[in-house]
Amino acid sequence: MDNKSLVSIDDYTKEEILEVLARAAEFEKNPNCSLLEGKVVASLFFEPSTRTRLSFETAISRMGGRIVGFTDSSSSSVTKGETLKDTTKMVSNYCDLIVMRHPIEGSARYASEVSDVPVINAGDGANQHPSQTMLDLYSIMKTQGTLENLNIFMVGDLKYGRTVHSLLMALSHFNPTFHFIAPPELEIPRGYKIFMEKNNIKYFEHTEFNDIINDADILYMTRVQKERFADPLEYEKVKNVYILKNDMLSNTKDNMRILHPLPRVNEIAVDVDTNPKAYYFEQALNGVYARQAIIAKALNL
Ligand code: CP
Repeated sequence: MDNKSLVSIDDYTKEEILEVLARAAEFEKNPNCSLLEGKVVASLFFEPSTRTRLSFETAISRMGGRIVGFTDSSSSSVTKGETLKDTTKMVSNYCDLIVMRHPIEGSARYASEVSDVPVINAGDGANQHPSQTMLDLYSIMKTQGTLENLNIFMVGDLKYGRTVHSLLMALSHFNPTFHFIAPPELEIPRGYKIFMEKNNIKYFEHTEFNDIINDADILYMTRVQKERFADPLEYEKVKNVYILKNDMLSNTKDNMRILHPLPRVNEIAVDVDTNPKAYYFEQALNGVYARQAIIAKALNL
């Protein structure tokens, strides 16, 4: 494996995606190891997180590594005006790997260019969330037995949902058919449509959330990203636009599984949680194994 950052999902080729998924399966069988013994990983979260930060930190701990960092930039020298460049340069002197979440699109790429150690993007604004994509792919592989030729339905905030953007790019290697269900205000950005058209990826757009989901292999629900709206009134208009309820699942395919990157707000009713097609909590657990594999690849271990 090469030593490399993971900033955008297209930093991985199809072969590398499959290699990391195979490695994740090995970590799932044997999560505890000493691959990171003597190594320090910096966990820099300039934005809130539960799953991403804690699953990275669990992954590092299970691999025998040590963690430094902050969970809130207000406790760092950013508050004194230190630039992202200086912060990254300094931290890269202290550690072997940086995991970073930041609200500004492109910040992770910039950090990877000034860092002396690999950088893993744990989410940069509305842009990309490639480690989430690897756990999403791992979850799809585990539940469907393949990544090829699947009907993928993505629902909700397709404009600001960075997990959607990374996942559609990754799945484009595997001949998907996408169905995007979003209100006009939150439709998939034009740049991603051009990407799919250039790559001959089949996609359909819908505004109604109804029995078309009966064709889905994967139903990927997303939260409306309140924190990305400049105008709170615009958020109020769309915040509850689609809510998945248990009775909507009666005629869906047996193999269909519901994914959600979480956190959930209102978009999946709690009565869905006990449906065997609900997979979002297992999906979050898969994040530990996928992130162990990403870390191993970044450090060529
Ligand atoms: N899926 C995800 O990124 O969750 P967190 O914001 O809790 O890390």
